[in-house]
Amino acid sequence: MKLTQAQAEKVEALLREMTLDEKIGQMNLESPSIVGGFDVSFEELIEMVNDGRIPQEEFVKIMSTAKRDFHEDDIRAGRVGAMMGDDPVKANELQKIAVEESRLGIPLMMGFDVIHGFRTVYPIAIAEAGSFEPDLFRRTARMAARESRAHGVNWNFAPMVDVARDARWGRVSEGPGEDPYLASCFARAKIDGLQGDTSSKESYVAACLKHYVAYGACESGRDYNTTTMANSLLYNAYLPPFKAAVEEGAATVMASFNDLNGVPCTLNRFTLREILKECWSFPGFVVSDANAIRECVVHGIAEDEPTAGVMAAQAGMDMDMGTEIYLNNLKQAIEDGRLDVAYLDEAVRRILSVKMWLGLFDNPYVPEEQIATNEVIPQTNLDLALEAGEKSIVLLKNDDNLLPLSKSQKISLVGTLAAKPEEVIGAWAMSWKPSDCVTILDGLKNQGAALEYFPCGGPDAPMNDEEIAAAAAYGDVIVAVVGENVTMTGEASSKADISMPGAQREMLQKLLDTGKPVIALLMNGRPMALEWEAEHLSTLVECWHLGIQMGNAVAKVLFGEAVPQGKLASTFPKMTGQCPIYYNHPNTGRPGSKSKFTSRYLDAGFSELFPFGYGLSYTTFQYDDLAVEDKGDHLAVSVKVTNTGKRSGVETVQLYMQDVVGSIVRPVKELKGFTKVSLEAGASAQVSFTLNKSDMGFYNNDGKYLLEDGTFRIYVGGNSRDCLMQELRLVF
Ligand code: GLC
Repeated sequence: MKLTQAQAEKVEALLREMTLDEKIGQMNLESPSIVGGFDVSFEELIEMVNDGRIPQEEFVKIMSTAKRDFHEDDIRAGRVGAMMGDDPVKANELQKIAVEESRLGIPLMMGFDVIHGFRTVYPIAIAEAGSFEPDLFRRTARMAARESRAHGVNWNFAPMVDVARDARWGRVSEGPGEDPYLASCFARAKIDGLQGDTSSKESYVAACLKHYVAYGACESGRDYNTTTMANSLLYNAYLPPFKAAVEEGAATVMASFNDLNGVPCTLNRFTLREILKECWSFPGFVVSDANAIRECVVHGIAEDEPTAGVMAAQAGMDMDMGTEIYLNNLKQAIEDGRLDVAYLDEAVRRILSVKMWLGLFDNPYVPEEQIATNEVIPQTNLDLALEAGEKSIVLLKNDDNLLPLSKSQKISLVGTLAAKPEEVIGAWAMSWKPSDCVTILDGLKNQGAALEYFPCGGPDAPMNDEEIAAAAAYGDVIVAVVGENVTMTGEASSKADISMPGAQREMLQKLLDTGKPVIALLMNGRPMALEWEAEHLSTLVECWHLGIQMGNAVAKVLFGEAVPQGKLASTFPKMTGQCPIYYNHPNTGRPGSKSKFTSRYLDAGFSELFPFGYGLSYTTFQYDDLAVEDKGDHLAVSVKVTNTGKRSGVETVQLYMQDVVGSIVRPVKELKGFTKVSLEAGASAQVSFTLNKSDMGFYNNDGKYLLEDGTFRIYVGGNSRDCLMQELRLVF
């Protein structure tokens, strides 16, 4: 996000005109509040539903009569800087009030959660990251930006780039997995996609990096829980994707709910001011997460809301999402001398700069003709969602070569997840339509498969023995779709047990007992503990939540029209108790092994079930002739990859390094590069990497980046476990 000189001068001129009230108004983000229809507050109503005091049906009935307050009067009075919403007609109405009726006519940011697509929903991030294709990350983000703008949304609360190592956390689904390097590539590409095409107002939005920072390290994977870590871990594992995205020009950042080393990120001066704004020179603005300034009182860092507001503003929090604490308290704080107006000027300068960069002062409205065309999803969008789906599917097991299927086989499709449109969508999809969704049942039918569908059971559906018997009687092969409901991942969806929910394991056992071959397709939003499934099933495919084209993507891979090429962006454990589990861990003094006095579990050993970067193909690949040359400022790495199978395939070749001895212990492996290669059966390719020595360092606990001479190991392979290795001494 860069302003021209003229734009920067306009911002300064506007700032000089603004009253104290108008400055504070710009720092206030509202969402349409639910009002009327009941005699308790909306928050109380939610509590009443959650604790069962009123039935869900009663809640829905009340909501149907409730109105929504869009804060028109506040906007007119210059007390709102940004709104949330996804309706272009309403956006134009509110924008018109801001631009034509408020004193200074400052346009609104219109923000919305567009995490993996607006109406054209594509795979959840943990799936898409597994495509290991930055160009794809960028293209899907660009599509989301265009759809957003067409619906009046000029600010996406995305990308979520939280590194996460504990699959008990439900928000693993929303981010790019466990690795800082892959997450950084993902973050950079998403910023370019969302913000990069400023050729026309219709094709870019302000991104919002979230959740800053280390939210994914919430203790025991429990959402909103405390996070505590050494600064070296913060710098080496959790900050990198944010740093990469700020370098790419991210326009806004959302602070995370968690307290980090005792200080909530909402008012954490170290992370917000020292790192983000000073060290990284971040030019945009920081917004709180929903209600987070109020929660600083609950955290116990502020006595009361006015104090929380002052502390947040001083720490570098520029915009308040949803509490009105800034609106109701900052003026008094300024007048009492508890807050310097310079903090407001800084915040408002940043906010106005983003609005100026977005072109909102010249073009605040969605063109009517654009609104008229929103109804139809362009074929190019559908094609891209399909491509992203195909590339995110991970083949975990194919021991009996049941896949790919042939069209002549009769298929018994099993599992409630296979036929529910709402289950393909994934967490945090907000503006989709059920009619757009292609289920796995739809997708197989679209492929002309000979199939019958038997629900048989699901994550929260009881097993049905008659349907299981009928499924066994009909098909030559049983395709069982199992996993998690979409509601089991996303925000506030941590789980203490991430094994297969409900009676699905028993259902799979009964299907196996019929003697018919069983192919299990997983629909889930997090890595799951699948030790039993991996032991009993010969064929296992990770299909995640792939968005509106899910069924077509899965069907094309099942029939071999598309090759499975996805890899895992997060480690899969054998058992929940192994979490957090990740590949880039320190060695410890007693690395896990079969012998007793080593770092392992008596009941789960020490290894993962499926490692980071893992994924099979319908063919096989062999790695030979790893060569590593020291070229002074970089290493030249090359390896020969051969397709040793009978079908063409696509392989993601991965480059890892290990700094064997350091002034603080370093991970046993760190991803430092990847590239995809497509090979016909029998063909080979020489794959090369350039590893800049400047990228081989690490941060110490003072936040200082170090390059230390010593022994290094270079690994190359098709996943983080099975690699060729060369060792060398390096002097920097
Ligand atoms: C939520 C989420 C955040 C989202 C925000 C606005 O609580 O934490 O990711 O952008 O509220 O919906």
